Amino acid sequence: MKKSIQYLTITIAISTFLFSCNNTKTNKSQTVKKSEKTLSQADIKNSEGYKLMESKCFICHLEKPDPSKKDKMIAPPMLRVKEHYLPNYQNKEDFVNAVVAFTKNPSKDKTLMPGTVKKFNLMPKLNYDENELKLIAETIYDYNFGDAPKMRMQMSGNLKLNNGKRWKLKKESIEKVDSLTNKLYSFKSDNIEDYNKFGKELFNDAKEIMLDKSYTGEKFNQIHNFFNSAEEDMHSLIAEKSVDNAKKTLDDLKEKFNNFYNFFEAE
Ligand code: HEC
Repeated sequence: MKKSIQYLTITIAISTFLFSCNNTKTNKSQTVKKSEKTLSQADIKNSEGYKLMESKCFICHLEKPDPSKKDKMIAPPMLRVKEHYLPNYQNKEDFVNAVVAFTKNPSKDKTLMPGTVKKFNLMPKLNYDENELKLIAETIYDYNFGDAPKMRMQMSGNLKLNNGKRWKLKKESIEKVDSLTNKLYSFKSDNIEDYNKFGKELFNDAKEIMLDKSYTGEKFNQIHNFFNSAEEDMHSLIAEKSVDNAKKTLDDLKEKFNNFYNFFEAE
């Protein structure tokens, strides 16, 4: 799998270079045109941004999850990428800036998808033209990738014990989860912005555990089952507009974290 990524990276680096030499002019006029009107889905599919996304991103990313290609995936489907970026960057400008920033220079600091970083390794740094990346990011924001089953449905209730016993995690990881659980129980507010901020804080804590290199194999899968579903709640907390809903999400998170201790313990 790694070899194929390396090979792709080289091929893409070369073709990006060739492409960007003769594409600059059309891109500029496209940027102007795009901001003038709202595009329909069909227009978007014919746009320069979509074509660039097809040729430069869909080499690794599927457009949307496809069960028949699940085993061959080398990157998360673009629909999932959008699902993770949208709650964190709700206006188009912030969204575009974040996608461009990550793609120009992928890093663990910036990732909103620690699970996929662990699974596929960090996205390789590719030499993309900044204007093209902007067009692509705008397309990801504008384009409706359709529906795909929520991860929660695939993940919940999936946790398995280790031959009837709890999985042993490093003391630091358990302490991190303890502190997360404490935060969940001590948090109180009637201000929605506090909930949004709190969602970010929880996500950053969870990220550290998910990116931990020492967990592999089935233990790693189970850590991921757990955090994938918690992560979804954290993302909705970040984007939530209603205090009542935020409180419900928080309760859901508390329940999930209580359940953590049925499956994991300190080594
Ligand atoms: C050579 C394969 C490859 C290509 C080409 C590629 N990606 Fe990725 N991308 C990945 C992998 C692997 C991940 C998952 C790991 C990660 O998040 O870094 C990823 C993740 C991402 C993420 C999520 C980042 C995060 O972790 O928060 C974004 C955004 C993204 N890609 C955008 C793009 C865009 C836009 C393009 C096209 C310009 C593109 N990618 C092309 C492999 C690729």
